[in-house]
This record gives sequence, structure tokens and C-alpha cells, in this order.
Amino acid sequence: MSSLQEKVRSLRQELDNVTSLGGKSLEAFRLKFISKKGAISELFEEFKQASVEEKKTLGKILNELKQAAEERFKQLSDEQEASAKSSGVEIDLSLPPIPNKTGSLHPLNLTRYKIIEVFERLGFNVVDGPEIEDDWHNFTALNFPENHPAREMQDTFFIEKPALPDGQERGNHDILLRTHTSNVQIRLMKQQKPPLRAIMPGRVYRNEAISARAHCFFHQVEGLYVDKNVGFSDLKQTLFHFAKEMFGKDTKIRLRPSFFPFTEPSAEIDVSCFICGSKGCNVCKYSGWVEIAGSGMVHPNVLRNCGIDPEEYTGFAFGMGIERITMLRYGINDLRMFSENDIRFLKQFKAVV
Ligand code: DAH
Repeated sequence: MSSLQEKVRSLRQELDNVTSLGGKSLEAFRLKFISKKGAISELFEEFKQASVEEKKTLGKILNELKQAAEERFKQLSDEQEASAKSSGVEIDLSLPPIPNKTGSLHPLNLTRYKIIEVFERLGFNVVDGPEIEDDWHNFTALNFPENHPAREMQDTFFIEKPALPDGQERGNHDILLRTHTSNVQIRLMKQQKPPLRAIMPGRVYRNEAISARAHCFFHQVEGLYVDKNVGFSDLKQTLFHFAKEMFGKDTKIRLRPSFFPFTEPSAEIDVSCFICGSKGCNVCKYSGWVEIAGSGMVHPNVLRNCGIDPEEYTGFAFGMGIERITMLRYGINDLRMFSENDIRFLKQFKAVV
């Protein structure tokens, strides 16, 4: 008997002896008899080199061995499944996976996602814009006249420009870190024509001393809606809807006259205090109201600066601080906590979705 014949015979013997798993793993059986690197595959490799004569007799036996191994594998795995079932350890493959326990969303992102979700359902797109901006998009186009005191309220960080090689004048194109997300309104209106409906979340910067209530950077969400016949009532209704979705269905809003160079008229938006139900608490300073956004009808000069005819189109805009809303939602009393990366603070938001 050739050595190949001998090997086939002894492997068949070995297979026939395996009538149950007997404490061994199904995987070990698979590796030995079924897998591409197993003993049977190895014999098939050797078979390729056998003489024509030998192939005639051995081919059949080898194929039978392979088939028997597959049948045995099926039998063993059925038995294993049945015994797992009877012992009550059932494997349910339709169960959801165990959630990843490392890390969690930052509270500012939790708020940002929620704001986006509400406005997306109203048909607003999310638009992005640069944090490093020029003076025109951050101020001038938004109807802040040069040297106007309104610019004082938003002092920022200016970026030094390298001198032009041929000593040319640069003109009034100071580069700065944007003080608000309102610059994206301008970029959007220059790029696309109405109807426009967008929200613009992002980071902004101010030259301020860092304290519990102020920081040199924070986050805002800007909103803009420009179309024919957009009125103040649309602004009011949109923000009222937002407030109810964001803070609960019994929330009320209040508009207070205000001033922004880029809107006319302008209003500060307050919501009824959702911490105390307007009864008065230290969050609302016992007034029953908390301020959440600035807003107004887009100033005709702003539309004109972006090539939109204010006789044809009108629009409303608003801007809200993400930190402020997050502090109100979770009762956080120090703005610095958002950027200190203290794991004891961050891991408290794990359960929040
Ligand atoms: N940009 C303003 C700020 O940072 C907030 C703001 C107020 C944005 C009114 C608006 C608006 O779009 O209409 O203080």
C-alpha cells in the first residue's frame, strides 16, 4: 500500500472514531478535518502528485472521506446547538451589540446635535464657514460701519499678515478670528440666492478675560431664512417651535427689543425658565425667564451687500450660544469646565443621549 493510501486510511479511521465532541471544541474538529489547511486538504494536495493508476482507486476514497467529515461536522454542530438550548444557554444572534463603553459625547455636542435635529426637521440645511475670517465678512458686510463703537463689543484676535513682496497696499482686509457665526450668513448669501434656509454652527472667539462666565472661545449656532414675504411673525413662530422642541412643550418665549447692526428690528429671545417652571430660581435669577438668543429681520444693507434685492426678498436671522444653552440644560455653572478636559466632568454625560 502506498504511503498516501495509508494516510487516507488512517485519517478515515480517526474520523470514524469521533462520534461525539467529548469535551473537545467544534472549532478543533473544523480545523483538523474541514479547513483549507486541515489534514484532508493536505491529502488532496498530495493526491495531485499520485500516479494515474493510484488516482483511479484513491480519488473515490478521498472524496468519501471529505464528505464523511462534512457530515460529521454538521452532526456535531447540531448536537452542540441542541445541548446549549436544553441547558438554557441560547445564543440570540438578533440581540443588539453591547454598546461601546469607552468615551461619550461632549455636552456641547449633545446640545449642538439637538439644535440641528430640531431645525433640520423645519427644512434648514447645516452650513459651515471659516473661523479665520476677514474684516469684511465678520463686520463690514454685516453693517458694522468702520470705527463704529458696535465693534468694541466684539474685540478679537487679529492675525499678522506678512508684508506683500512688492510693498503693495493690502487695503482694509484685516484677518481675524471670527467673533460670531454671522460671517457664514454673508458667505452663504454671496454664494447662493434665495430661498435660503440654513443653520450654521461653529466656534467663535473674543478677546475676553477668562472667567466662569466668559471665555476667549465658545460656540454659536446662527440661523438664516431669506425668501419672498418672510416676516417677523415667521421669526417668532420658528423660535417658539424651537423652544418647545428643545426645552419642553410648555415652554413660552418672550421677545425684548434689542440692537444688532445687521438686523432691524432686533430682539433678544427669552424662554420661560425650564428649570423651575418660571416659579423663580437662581438660574433665572428669580425672573422666570432665561435669555437664549439674539435675533431680528435681516437689515436691507446686509442683503444689498450680498447682492440680494431687499425690495424683493426679506429674511430673519438669529444667533444662539451653545455653551449658554448647555449650562442651562445641565445646571453647569462654570464655562471653563467645557474646555478643561476633566474626565470627572465629561463622564457624567455618558448616559445622556
Ligand atoms: N452675532 C450676534 C452675537 O454674537 C448674535 C446674533 C444676534 C446673530 C442677532 C444673529 C442675529 O443672526 O440676528 O452677539
